Amino acid sequence: MAKNTYKQDEELVEAFNIKHLIRASVYIKKYIRVMVLALILSGIGGAFGYLAPLVTKRALDKAVPDKNVRLLMTLAILMACLYLVSVIFTTIRSRIMVNVSQNIIYDIRKDLFGHLQELPFEYYDNRPHGKILIRVVNYVNSVSDMLSNGLINIVLEGFNLVFIIIFMFMADVQLALVVMCGVPFLAVFMFWIKNKQRKAWQAVSNKNSNLNAYLQENIVGAKITQIFAREDENTEIFRELSGDCRKTWHTAVKYSNLVWPGIDSISVFVRAAIFFFGLFIFGNGNKSLGTIVAVSGYASYFWQPIMNLGNIFNNFINNVAYLERIFETIDEPVSVRDAEDAVNMQPVKGDVTFENVFFAYENEEDENGSENNTDNKMGKESGASFGSGVLKRKGGMVLKNVSFKVKAGESVALVGPTGAGKSTIVNLISRFYNVNSGRILIDGQDISKVTLKSLRSQMGIMMQDSFVFSGTVEDNIRYGRLDADAEEIRKAAETVCADEFIGRMKDGYQTEVKERGGTLSEGEKQLLSFARTVLSDPKILILDEATSSIDVRTEKALQTGLDNMLKGRTSFIIAHRLSTIRNCDKIMYIDQGGIVEAGTHDELMAKKGAYYELYMSR
Ligand SMILES: Nc1ncnc2c1ncn2[C@@H]1O[C@H](COP(=O)(O)OP(=O)(O)OP(=O)(O)O)[C@@H](O)[C@H]1O
Ligand SMILES: [Mg+2]
Repeated sequence: MAKNTYKQDEELVEAFNIKHLIRASVYIKKYIRVMVLALILSGIGGAFGYLAPLVTKRALDKAVPDKNVRLLMTLAILMACLYLVSVIFTTIRSRIMVNVSQNIIYDIRKDLFGHLQELPFEYYDNRPHGKILIRVVNYVNSVSDMLSNGLINIVLEGFNLVFIIIFMFMADVQLALVVMCGVPFLAVFMFWIKNKQRKAWQAVSNKNSNLNAYLQENIVGAKITQIFAREDENTEIFRELSGDCRKTWHTAVKYSNLVWPGIDSISVFVRAAIFFFGLFIFGNGNKSLGTIVAVSGYASYFWQPIMNLGNIFNNFINNVAYLERIFETIDEPVSVRDAEDAVNMQPVKGDVTFENVFFAYENEEDENGSENNTDNKMGKESGASFGSGVLKRKGGMVLKNVSFKVKAGESVALVGPTGAGKSTIVNLISRFYNVNSGRILIDGQDISKVTLKSLRSQMGIMMQDSFVFSGTVEDNIRYGRLDADAEEIRKAAETVCADEFIGRMKDGYQTEVKERGGTLSEGEKQLLSFARTVLSDPKILILDEATSSIDVRTEKALQTGLDNMLKGRTSFIIAHRLSTIRNCDKIMYIDQGGIVEAGTHDELMAKKGAYYELYMSR
């Protein structure tokens, strides 16, 4: 997805590109046999249905005039059987196709979700999550329907049309030709309306996507909305977006509602023409009543497949655009990924070295650059040019030539003004982003040359907004190490003084916490994530403002736990509360993307530089 906001429509007007359809065939390959079976069943079912008017013809022309009750009864039973077979076959077909389409949905979603999990922070930094959601949910639904039912229906409706025409001509050639005269009118009408309809539904889809993006953002930010009393403004924006949805929907429905009456009118004229020609022009008794009724029956069948084909064609065009969006997401380059010859990082001691590291966030070029538009049109990401090799990022460097060495087991504090680059530095250690140039080494190994899993599994990262999943307290702690038993979990909680508040909860460790931990205080969430990290027993610990929400008393109590936790591990601590970091082995003062000064608390205080200023001003 090109970078985008809820204010921008996604580009869905694509030239019909067969390439995407061919690529999508991998999803139907597995099911092709059952799909052929479904096709045959519906073919037979359909054909049986179409024999019915011929039976009617025979009844009206033979059984009724001859007053042959036996024949009439036989024909009636035959008719019932024809319909029954037709219904049974059609039902089996829909059962099969429901399965196929659900399987296709499952397969595509699996691929999409798998890929979304791998995509780096970079991808999520600047894309409305609501629009990503709509791809995984709505677009996939729609596309799967096209790939399963759509494909079958094309063949089927094609056959239907051929069958109907054959049967109609079998019933009477002249009257069938009368019906065919209606086709040009229908073609013109269909061409006009389908074009309108397609554009209208694309607009609906775009507006829905925008609304979704905005809604998602607002649900997540609901508290902020209320804090800033922004309800009125937000409601206004929502009203507009929602109004857009309604407007586009109305237009789309208006066109859709025109389809049937339009076709019906043509159909009525054609059927009137059949009777007119049948009775008066070719007529004078030449055409039997049965023939006329049969042809008129076929004529009424005739429009359905034509209209269905028009619908399918429309859906195809829409869905190919959706497919393109889905493939675009699947193809989104994982810029942070294992190098081809990546090796597993062996259990580390914890030496961390930065060598002349330069780094810029990718999106800066988009924010002030003009490439955004082309991106959008091409449906390509600027990230596509980022191979695993040299990164070509423009924009301001956030880190400029940062070099430092931390020995295993040392604790390092990063301090400095807001926006200086502290979090950026620690994010790079876990390789959440790739550096632009320079190297980061752990125990002398370049982290870009080892597998991400082996790297990150040795890191314990705690951030300010600790994430809590829905599940029990125990589940949440166990997230750190899935094979931990209850005893180990309790120990971990004790180490970080989390057992006290857990003990006070209704069901203790079995208490259910809601998604995002809405029922826990910030401090409690932080303690939980501490316990989770202790359990995972990482060699390198990163605490980014991780104690900011814990009260001073708990923090003091925690200090012992924290000291225990830090023992024998390399740790990077970012804390605005300077009391937390006084005892660190080393303090680095970061400003404007570089290390301004470094040393122990006492050294820096003696130096009377930036750190001294900061310490004195608190
Ligand atoms: N995902 C991102 N995309 C683009 N720019 C970013 C991103 N994250 C941070 N930045 C920018 O990079 C710079 C450094 O940010 P960073 O988060 O490292 O600061 P920090 O030192 O941790 O600040 P704080 O003390 O406020 O947490 C800031 O100018 C910030 O605006
Ligand atoms: Mg930060």
